[in-house]
Amino acid sequence: MRDYRQGGTDNATSVKTPPSQTSLSRREFTQTALLTAGAVALGAAAPALSAAGAAPRRIRTAVIGCGSVSNQYLPVLKRCPFVELVSVCDIRPERARKQAEAYGVPNHYPHIEALLAGAPFEFLIDLTDMQAHEAVNRRALQAGKHVWSEKPIANSLAAGQDLLRMARPRKLRLWGAPITVQSPQFAFMARKIASGELGRLAAAHAFYGHEGPDWSSFFYEKGGGSLPDLAVYNLTSLTGLLGPVRRVTAMLSIVTPDRAIHEKGTIRVTEEDNAMLLLDHGQGLISHVQSGFNYFNPHGHDGSGEKRHTIQITGTRGYLGLVGYDWAPQAVEWATPDRPALVRESTDPGGYLWQQGAALAAECLATGKELLATPEHALHVLEIITAARAASATGRTIPLKSTFTRPLPV
Ligand SMILES: NC(=O)c1ccc[n+]([C@@H]2O[C@H](COP(=O)([O-])OP(=O)(O)OC[C@H]3O[C@@H](n4cnc5c(N)ncnc54)[C@H](O)[C@@H]3O)[C@@H](O)[C@H]2O)c1
Repeated sequence: MRDYRQGGTDNATSVKTPPSQTSLSRREFTQTALLTAGAVALGAAAPALSAAGAAPRRIRTAVIGCGSVSNQYLPVLKRCPFVELVSVCDIRPERARKQAEAYGVPNHYPHIEALLAGAPFEFLIDLTDMQAHEAVNRRALQAGKHVWSEKPIANSLAAGQDLLRMARPRKLRLWGAPITVQSPQFAFMARKIASGELGRLAAAHAFYGHEGPDWSSFFYEKGGGSLPDLAVYNLTSLTGLLGPVRRVTAMLSIVTPDRAIHEKGTIRVTEEDNAMLLLDHGQGLISHVQSGFNYFNPHGHDGSGEKRHTIQITGTRGYLGLVGYDWAPQAVEWATPDRPALVRESTDPGGYLWQQGAALAAECLATGKELLATPEHALHVLEIITAARAASATGRTIPLKSTFTRPLPV
């Protein structure tokens, strides 16, 4: 989604901030990272240092997939006091080597088996192609590693649940992007809804789109598509705010059947690049999500340029609008009969970054804290995506099986 601003394919050369300029002390990191999530999750800021002032342990961490998004993750991981970056890996070995050099990572490997047989580590961050996640995550869990996966965790609900069943008896953790539920703006909206001020909730609408990536073809091939790449953010936010979905219907289409991809030339698009979903949350509450790779965007891919309400929630006595995208939220505006002109609140980013999910997960491994973002929630969103495809193909409304416990910020 965003990182192609920094240059897509020759990824390592596009790093803008040298690692040496990104290092923070443990205290600074905590103020800008899990304190946000901790405050959201627990209602109070938990200290990064123990009472005795002892430094928490660093989690020996490996990153697999050194493409575009690694330019976003690695600077955050580099300055995270809970992470020791041990190894990087990519099936394009020159990419792994470049990122190892750029971020001072001691080891780099050309495939997962070499990575697993190499320098010991306990936590794998999976930034590979969407189609590769399931197999990479499975192999890492088999090898006894905790896993953070870019979306999706797996290619189907059943496969994702199988991965969770593998992880639990091994006392391993499995998390997946995105982390929109960790932002202060999500917390503000969740609290507003929980307060009852909006009356009875009736409807919600969310959208996210851009012109589509041009550096890798997997976004447009089977297992890719705009649903798992883009709609996944809105689906995570809306289900987090409104609760699990009971049934889904959708229309999906391909607007641009041929795409020009760097290093590949023209490819055929086989997964949706345009999507409209209707979601039934129960008790009469219906939401709508639209996403696609054909959206004119006057702000390029800079999330800060988007000033519209990309999430809108309406009840019998109130309205909530999220200013900017849910992965880079800027504020929340709301109105009720007592305050009919929009009130703007929650303007502080509070240290939230969409790129920090794996670093927050490392902090959880080091300290025992918990994220609001859960794998059960990620798998519910995955089931919505696969159901939307079935709905579009058949013209039916598809009931869902999975559920999750809604994050309830205090
Ligand atoms: N690029 C972004 O801005 C962005 C933002 C958020 C999320 N994401 C997600 O991050 C993931 C990666 O996207 P990207 O844009 O970085 O793609 P990319 O094509 O730039 O990078 C993927 C890298 O993974 C490597 N790879 C593929 N299979 C592998 C395997 N089995 N073992 C080791 N390496 C392997 C590829 O060689 C490539 O270098 C996707 O799930 C995407 O949806 C990307």
